Amino acid sequence: MRRINVIPMVQNYTVDEKTLAFHTNLKVFLDDKFIDIKDRIPENLWQFKIEFVKENADVEIVCKEDQKGYTLAAKERVVITSSTIENAFYGLITLTQLFNGKNTIPACEIEDAPRFRYRGIMLDVARHFFGKKEIKELLDIMAYNKMNVFHWHLTEDQGWRIEIKKYPELAKRGCVRDDEWTNALRHMKGEKYGEGMYFTQEDIKEIVAYAKDRMITVVPEIDMPGHITSALSVFPELSCEGKPLKVANQFGVKHTIGCVGNPDFISFIKDVIDEVCELFPAPYFHIGGDEVPKSKWKNCPKCQALMKQKGIKTENDLQGWFTNEIMAYLAEKGKRLIGWNEIMETADLRKDAIVQWWMGKYAEKWAERGGNVILSQNIVCYLDYPYILTNLEKIYSLGPERSKMKEENKKNVLGIEAPLWTEFVYDKKKYDFMLYPRVQAVAEAAWTMPEKKNYNDFEGRLTYALADLDRRGIGYCPPKKYNPVGFKGLRQRFLVGKRIIKDPNYEVEL
Ligand code: ACM
Ligand code: ZN
Repeated sequence: MRRINVIPMVQNYTVDEKTLAFHTNLKVFLDDKFIDIKDRIPENLWQFKIEFVKENADVEIVCKEDQKGYTLAAKERVVITSSTIENAFYGLITLTQLFNGKNTIPACEIEDAPRFRYRGIMLDVARHFFGKKEIKELLDIMAYNKMNVFHWHLTEDQGWRIEIKKYPELAKRGCVRDDEWTNALRHMKGEKYGEGMYFTQEDIKEIVAYAKDRMITVVPEIDMPGHITSALSVFPELSCEGKPLKVANQFGVKHTIGCVGNPDFISFIKDVIDEVCELFPAPYFHIGGDEVPKSKWKNCPKCQALMKQKGIKTENDLQGWFTNEIMAYLAEKGKRLIGWNEIMETADLRKDAIVQWWMGKYAEKWAERGGNVILSQNIVCYLDYPYILTNLEKIYSLGPERSKMKEENKKNVLGIEAPLWTEFVYDKKKYDFMLYPRVQAVAEAAWTMPEKKNYNDFEGRLTYALADLDRRGIGYCPPKKYNPVGFKGLRQRFLVGKRIIKDPNYEVEL
């Protein structure tokens, strides 16, 4: 059977020898139920111009109630059926990929639906700043690969990147480092290493709208109560010791964190949440919660007094109390809390929490307790890791079948997400190199049922995806580097392990 060259691979298809030819001006009939899509069709995604017509259409998009996913039948014309706008959109995405830059498609019949409802990429814009242009480009490629969650890591020790109107100094001063990186990293471009490098609320609205047109939900992350040096540099009185400190110049886990025993810290966090929730319609809100050293809380009269008052036994449970407080606050606004797996290190985390698994064995436990999980294990899918550690084939295997999760608990997996942390990602060239084509591999892992996945077949289809990136002027890691093997690969692994090479894929030829 002839193959169809789409990514992510569809669940079921048949194809015959016939080829259908179309004009580049594609006439599309749209069911009234989907009329909203008309103004939201993003021109730069399609390989054809779309003209909406009432009759003599090349493509009919028809609403079929109760249908899960979409169908696409290409015979004389193309008929796409779906019950939702999202799936009608994905039918069109499949169609544009079938064209592969030509004006013909193979005659075929497709039945398709996503494996997971949460198919994400995370971008850290705090360590190194990436702006609207780079984000929009990523959103285009995500949509082209049917991904639907952009997790936006907006705050860090090294920079606060979102305007909060109640606290104008927060982003203005919290995004500025007074020195270049001192830990083997390149400095940021711009005045005083970051002046003005934050997103205004208007910028945020623009990105959220751009994503919405591409069926992508934007999930904000405001990291708390750790990874928050940038905010504490502006409001040092909100830390346990209240000492002045600077926006962090070096990466690594910081011991100065928010003082949860101080009601002013809780009010500050709630004020920030109020504004962020207004900007992001997503049903989720990410609070980070990762890497929270407890040494300052142990010695803080306010934190200890709160523990005594509430009968909280350990500092880990104090983080649990904080997470539950914030979760309840978010629930009032109709939002579910997501946190990195450290939020589980307490006895009584409420079940509504969604745990994002990046390390350890947490996800199995949370899923076993009936909680929802997002899979992002660092050793499988971190996009900041060099290709020698998370190569393309490994990322392609991401999914619950890689864990020891019991079969009956896999239903608790909401989906998968690959994060791009940017300590080492200092320019657009490296950004592209680390993202692509790993984004395409994550997309197929998130969409396609495991029994329909085949890595070698995926690599074959990738040729077309890389040609598409070429057409768009976007860089990527070339095939000879995305699965490093042999002596050079082993040597690289050794040097990375010894921390002799910090940035192997990029600087050292394999
Ligand atoms: C993480 O990588 N600290 C979630
Ligand atoms: Zn404290």
